[in-house]
Amino acid sequence: SSTAQEPLKNVLVTGGAGYIGSHVVYTLLKTRQYKVISIDNHHNSLPAALTRVSELALSELKESSPPPSARDLESTIVDAHDCDLTDPTSIRSIFSSYASKGEQIWGVVHIAAYKAVGESTEIPLTYYKNNVAATISLLEIMQEFGCSRLVYSSSATVYGTPPEVPIPETTRRLADSPYGRTKVMCEMIVEDLCESSAVPAAGKKTTTTPFQAISLRYFNPAGAHPSGRIGEDPRGRPGNLLPLLAHMAVGRVKDPVLKVFGNDYPTIDGTCVRDYLHVLDLAQGHVLALQALEEGSSLNKSVYASVPAGKGRFKAYNLGKGKGMSVLQIVEAMRKATGFDYKTEVVGRRRGDVPALIADPALARAELGFDAPHDLETMCRDLWNWQGQNPRGYE
Ligand code: WQD
Repeated sequence: SSTAQEPLKNVLVTGGAGYIGSHVVYTLLKTRQYKVISIDNHHNSLPAALTRVSELALSELKESSPPPSARDLESTIVDAHDCDLTDPTSIRSIFSSYASKGEQIWGVVHIAAYKAVGESTEIPLTYYKNNVAATISLLEIMQEFGCSRLVYSSSATVYGTPPEVPIPETTRRLADSPYGRTKVMCEMIVEDLCESSAVPAAGKKTTTTPFQAISLRYFNPAGAHPSGRIGEDPRGRPGNLLPLLAHMAVGRVKDPVLKVFGNDYPTIDGTCVRDYLHVLDLAQGHVLALQALEEGSSLNKSVYASVPAGKGRFKAYNLGKGKGMSVLQIVEAMRKATGFDYKTEVVGRRRGDVPALIADPALARAELGFDAPHDLETMCRDLWNWQGQNPRGYE
């Protein structure tokens, strides 16, 4: 294919060793178009994840035909760095190590963040420092090195309690937790950066290429690569529903009774409804976003067609199926996938929970060509396959 000849594009993925990050890195490797550089401080991940990602991509490459070229093999090697975004010096040294080889970092996929809603209400400054201040220093370093393409990992949590579901991207951003507010603030910071680089300062010619960004608002990612080699491996007791159910089924939770946080919501069965999508569909959304950041590509035209000349090239897309599933429906799906006889106990509502979060997927489908075809049964089967093969995660 034509991409076989083009040089690999260097893409920096922050949080590359994490649950989302490792599936995004894997999906980028599969395209054979990118040289992936990962940075991760391993606050909530282990380096083994990326070793497995490379092994997986390499084994799949060797089975493919025609036999892989040297360039293809090169594209399966991740340049992994254990460093922290809150330390600009180490981030700057990565950019300069590429610059000194005469190479550019073509684009950045910024996934690294703290993401526990409840925890963010207890330690807000840690969340603002790690999610917002670190993003600002990353953006400054990108500017210093002329890197002007960003895919930003955002979240449906920016909508707070949405006025309507399904939720279109035009919905006002009104987060109701410090974590959610870090996502809103970072989107606005990125948006302002795009706007500033698009509109030349009065009388000045634009020398820099306009900063282009796509913010991806994740709904509820679930599942794992079907090989069972990579997956979600949260530290301690999982806060999120699906990894908790997987831990229960594999015997890692001492009192395996699922506390259902409220069944008095105005939903199908009174429990909260969320829009779950397969983590590999979510990862594919990042590949599409990177392709849309390539000047002149058809996706670039499609994504920025609605942005008038001189306006900031910032777009935000929901990544969801547009389908809601309740807590009890998820428990039932995991009961089928694992054969584990889950016990549930209805308790009080969890602070910060909203009745229903369901994406309106129309814009991402129309402009980005995004789709999330994997169904809930597949998500649960792939999650259980990972957890069953790795009862203690990556260890
Ligand atoms: C799903 C549903 C709970 C655990 C969170 C973050 C969000 C995003 C994804 C980063 C809810 C219910 C859960 C339990 C339960 N993270 N539940 N008992 O809250 O939709 O989203 O993760 O972007 O920002 O808020 O996901 O998996 O925590 O909960 O009843 O023991 O399961 O009330 O309705 P959530 P979740």
